[in-house]
Amino acid sequence: MCGIIGYIGQKKAEEIVLKGLKRMEYRGYDSAGIATLNGGLSIIKCKGKVRELKKLVKVDSKESAQIGIGHTRWATHGEPNDINSHPHVGKLGKLALVHNGIIENYTSIKKKLESEGIEFYSETDTEAAAKLIEFVIESRPDLPMEKAVQLAISQITGAYGFAMIHSDYPDRILVARKGSPLLIGVGEGEMLIASDASAVAEYTDKVVYLDEGELAVISKDKFQVLDANDVELEKEVHELVMSLEEIEKGGYPYFMLKEIFEQPKTIADCMRGRINTETGEITLGGLTKALDKLVDAKRIIIAACGTSWHSALVGEYLIEHLARVSVEVEYASEFRYKDPIIDENDVLIVISQSGETADTLAALRKAKDSGATVFGIVNVVGSTIARETDAGVYLHTGPEIGVASTKAFTGQVTVLVLIALKLALMKGAITKEVSKKYIKALREIPEKIQHILDRSEQMKRISDLFTYAPNFLYLGRTYSFPVALEGALKLKEISYIHAEGYPAAEMKHGPIALIDEMMPVVVIATTDHTNDKMVSNIEEVKARKGRIISITSEENNDVSTLSEFNFSVPETEDFLSPLLSVIPLQLLSYYVAVNRGCDVDQPRNLAKSVTVE
Ligand code: AGP
Repeated sequence: MCGIIGYIGQKKAEEIVLKGLKRMEYRGYDSAGIATLNGGLSIIKCKGKVRELKKLVKVDSKESAQIGIGHTRWATHGEPNDINSHPHVGKLGKLALVHNGIIENYTSIKKKLESEGIEFYSETDTEAAAKLIEFVIESRPDLPMEKAVQLAISQITGAYGFAMIHSDYPDRILVARKGSPLLIGVGEGEMLIASDASAVAEYTDKVVYLDEGELAVISKDKFQVLDANDVELEKEVHELVMSLEEIEKGGYPYFMLKEIFEQPKTIADCMRGRINTETGEITLGGLTKALDKLVDAKRIIIAACGTSWHSALVGEYLIEHLARVSVEVEYASEFRYKDPIIDENDVLIVISQSGETADTLAALRKAKDSGATVFGIVNVVGSTIARETDAGVYLHTGPEIGVASTKAFTGQVTVLVLIALKLALMKGAITKEVSKKYIKALREIPEKIQHILDRSEQMKRISDLFTYAPNFLYLGRTYSFPVALEGALKLKEISYIHAEGYPAAEMKHGPIALIDEMMPVVVIATTDHTNDKMVSNIEEVKARKGRIISITSEENNDVSTLSEFNFSVPETEDFLSPLLSVIPLQLLSYYVAVNRGCDVDQPRNLAKSVTVE
């Protein structure tokens, strides 16, 4: 959460910082701000989106600064307003600081500084860090600046990604990381720092990822990274593979729509080089290091949050069904605190689009501390989760910028299918012949998704009729149950309509009380072996005048004829059906949100990557 960007070089810092903030706005968009050094420290910040800030910042060649930092905020402490916006400054107005994370001991720091006569203006935790760091720099002139900063941050508990500039040291940006991602973009005679690679991709393809406890001093031609014990580190420079096309809307009104329509390609990319139709083999290079652990595991635990947790549920069905290995799915936030039973014989798979979700990262660390082997299914290359897992598989679906996850979900499910098939083959649960048949079915998925997308107008018409429904119920069985959850989550997060996903049979145990003629019930009936049961559930809904919108496979006439509205998806193997049935649900939520005038890519209160608890 929160986007951080910084620039030092010869170009106009304001322009680069503002552009970077725009690219990272999906990380938080309550308010934004910029600090530059040009003679003295100048700060401009305001409530609202980056476009509001842009109106206030002059980008003039004569007056431009060549060093600056910026921030786009997702509020934790203090409401989104001008004062609480970052950057925050020290008492003397020399140091400006931006922060991503939560400072847990900010009240005690504040009290201590107040006793030194330092006044506070905002309700944020960040202001305490800004005041403390400047105070320590001033009180310890005997120390080089970076040592004073290290001394100050050693008094801070909680999570942070900090970037700061200081008017007495106009040749450098300092950054420090504990719990919140930061990277350095290495250029020619210029450097950038950011919490997200998308902000630097336009300027360089060389990046250095900071690790926990590290502090870096960045000037225009060099950077120095120190660990918590002040030891200088040799950091690897990674190549960033990210095209500008991938991080721009490319003619679509919203990133979410672009990402929905990209899915035929992203799923094909996800499979590329990993499946062999001739032999039925699956190759997942990233798993090789610890594959034996996965194959020998008596049970597998999968931990994730949100949409990634829904993929995990699909993964449970897939691995149990195809490979016959027992799977437990956990909310990462529960797993980390519930005193889980896990040891060195266990395998944990964590799933995360961003690779930065705080709870998922904590679950990973907890499992590693217990000696378990941890695998990752991650989209963002070089992210913290990707770097801390023992082995893993990248989605290769490209940057996902819409806050509502779409292509990452189908990418995660595709990877889980590949893992389940690989395990099934290695454990002898399926033959090569069966694997070939399944791989053939998987290869047909992108084309089938394209066929669904070509009929998106039909889903728009259905959405138009239900735009103002106050509630929705989504029902599914087996593989369609996680899809029901995902459909409901998509609708609630971007259109603010209350929606619940349920296993269809559970409806009788409570939610049926909600059904009346005002209640749209979205039934996902694409898994053949449970269709008869779904027919009975639909009859139960209809008997209470609920309005059925069904998602069926093309040949499922039993359900479609019973429905008020039906959208059919092509036939496929039951275990691949989530990859198809989720697409009309993504479209439904998108069109409803647009009809309601909601900001689809930046829904209220949300942020793309949840790096705080
Ligand atoms: C999905 O639409 C959400 N915005 C959210 O639930 C998301 O899936 C969750 O925060 C997990 O994120 P991650 O995959 O990056 O870990």
